[in-house]
Amino acid sequence: MTIEMSPADQAKFIAAKRATQYVEDGMRVGLGTGSTAAWLVRCLGEMVKNDGLQITGVPTSTRTADLAREVGIRVSTLDEVKWLDVTIDGADEYDANLNLIKGGGGALLQEKIVATASDQMVVIADVSKQVEALGAFPLPIEIIPFGWQTTKTLVEETLINLDVMGRSSALRLDRDKPFITDEGNYILDLHLRRIGNARQVSLVLNQIPGVVENGLFIDICDVIVIGHGDGTVELRDINNGTVTHDKVEIVDGDNLFSEF
Ligand code: 5RP
Repeated sequence: MTIEMSPADQAKFIAAKRATQYVEDGMRVGLGTGSTAAWLVRCLGEMVKNDGLQITGVPTSTRTADLAREVGIRVSTLDEVKWLDVTIDGADEYDANLNLIKGGGGALLQEKIVATASDQMVVIADVSKQVEALGAFPLPIEIIPFGWQTTKTLVEETLINLDVMGRSSALRLDRDKPFITDEGNYILDLHLRRIGNARQVSLVLNQIPGVVENGLFIDICDVIVIGHGDGTVELRDINNGTVTHDKVEIVDGDNLFSEF
């Protein structure tokens, strides 16, 4: 069945396709989670099928693992592979320093572990994810189910002393039940509105018993590939301080308008 992609989806696809240039034969590749990362997995699957690309993928969620297997990517675990050449993943927000909010898809814990265990993290996004200050997108934190209401109260009390504009939090639901992560935990979404000092917020949140990890990715992302619906991309490399522009050619085999 063929479907027409929205401009936002085209931009995500373009970013994902350009990011495949960071992947070479023989690499161990961390595979992110979310709709943009799903495009990446599909593009890599095409390269495995059509160009004989040989990679080992380490997925950051069961969803991504299922998709990677479906498109023919050899899937392994971080415990088997231990260290990765590159991780490519989406983001919910990015700022000028390439600090991120992630976890909108609930996979932040595995995503952070995998990205941190990589020589390079490449983020793929459309320009709608760009912000001046992080925090408009609710910050997800993964918490242990035991005593979660106490943890929620502690988190909100802790936020009083931090440079944030909002302090309310909400347990993420999956219909009428708590959303459960791949690690069997819950997600609290923190409505901070604006985070003044993201590094401090990240460090302090992780000190609270019951908090497993938070969705702030500070100094983890090396490169961002920002896709636009017209096929152009902007690449920002935080280590080299470079900003470059490129155009991604859409070819027939890209099957842009077909449903995978
Ligand atoms: C999942 C994530 C995703 O990368 C983030 O939510 C972006 O998703 P999408 O590409 O669908 O906009 O962090 O936990």
